[in-house]
Amino acid sequence: MSTRHEAAAAAVAVQAASCQTWAELDAVARRCTACPDLVLSRSTVVIGDAPEDSRLVLVGEAPGAEEDRTGRPFVGRSGRLLDELLAEAGLARDQVAVLNVVKCRPPQNRTPGSAEVANCGGWLDRQLTLLAPELICTLGLSAMQRFLGRRMTLTAARGVVHDHAGTRLVATYHPSAALRFGPRGAPRAALREDLRTVAGLLTAP
Ligand code: URA
Ligand code: SF4
Repeated sequence: MSTRHEAAAAAVAVQAASCQTWAELDAVARRCTACPDLVLSRSTVVIGDAPEDSRLVLVGEAPGAEEDRTGRPFVGRSGRLLDELLAEAGLARDQVAVLNVVKCRPPQNRTPGSAEVANCGGWLDRQLTLLAPELICTLGLSAMQRFLGRRMTLTAARGVVHDHAGTRLVATYHPSAALRFGPRGAPRAALREDLRTVAGLLTAP
């Protein structure tokens, strides 16, 4: 990453660190212009869902068309499948925080680049500090690699409870993979199983 990119990420981190509440972070991040491409492709900044006292945080990749239109994470096809599998595992979507690695929709839904992930990481880290969840669950490759490194594969990361700065972290597939491989495909079964595991790892309220 170039120095210019590092400076942009550092500037976001400084701004994020100064936010003392979720509402404050929401207001400041909405005006973020750190990623030149994404500022052009987004129509809104999708901050994420953060119900009060959520003990679980799900982290996806980036907003898609529906999310960009509504301003909420995981409300399109992937979101509907996610809600269904969460409910099957006994987890109500409205009790779970849902965030993304980047908060602005990339052009043509391309995968976010490493500079964009680094920039938005400042907001994400601050959100995780403010939420202080019991457990983080990453959905898909971008989110897993953001926490566990670019050399880690999803196959190796699955089925292990990792540690992220003192918080337990579980990695699973993205619901879009489950949709792509169909209802009988391996990713859907894996995602279903992993969300059950996640529910089991949360302590009783
Ligand atoms: N895919 C994601 O990774 N995040 C969303 O919010 C929607 C789809
Ligand atoms: Fe800012 Fe994140 Fe949007 Fe980049 S993706 S412009 S860091 S809010």
